[in-house]
Amino acid sequence: MKFTVAIDGPAAAGKGTIGRAVAAELGLAYLDTGLLYRAVGVQALDDGRGVIDPHWAAEIARRLEPDDLERPALRSARASAAASKVAALPEVRAALLDFQKRFARREGGAVLDGRDIGTVIAPNAEAKLFVTASDEVRARRRAAEMDGGQSLGQVLAEIRARDARDAGRDAAPMVAAADALLLDTTDLSIDAAVAAAIAHVKSRLPQGGA
Ligand code: DC
Repeated sequence: MKFTVAIDGPAAAGKGTIGRAVAAELGLAYLDTGLLYRAVGVQALDDGRGVIDPHWAAEIARRLEPDDLERPALRSARASAAASKVAALPEVRAALLDFQKRFARREGGAVLDGRDIGTVIAPNAEAKLFVTASDEVRARRRAAEMDGGQSLGQVLAEIRARDARDAGRDAAPMVAAADALLLDTTDLSIDAAVAAAIAHVKSRLPQGGA
């Protein structure tokens, strides 16, 4: 069976939690595509001693290995900002395209979350979701995850800067696919958001069954 679930949306809206839960419920493989950009961004920053060289970033993207996605530093605020910067580079996006497209069409089905999954990576995905939440709620969730290293104001400012960069870039900007289900998680518990996502994805399975 080939069955693709595309989950897009801004930072800290709940895409990862929802994506993992949908994948577990339906026995699908899961890929957090943000990790690809985070790995490239961190490596490019380290190699350039704090300055990202676009051509070198593309080279890093071409050489990316699965182990590179396991580095613990990929969840930091530094990695988030670097990821968003390298993600605006068309050469970097092009280098990561094939891997993501192949993952999306792998035998057994797949869930991918990111910014351009329903529009660029898997425009023919059987199920698409665009997950959002208010800026303030997203900042609160992210700050809680980060264990108090930054103030809520700082986290909110970073999230807004990242959203603006991700939505405003020319290369595959973050945008809801026309056929995506819009899921606003501002006032939803995790369980309710996951249940809504699973119900939508199940409704798109062949013959409506799991
Ligand atoms: O989902 P995330 O916060 O881990 O993503 C980190 C950055 O990577 C995000 O700010 C934008 C970029 N990204 C992207 O441009 N396209 C994707 N499919 C996934 C992430």
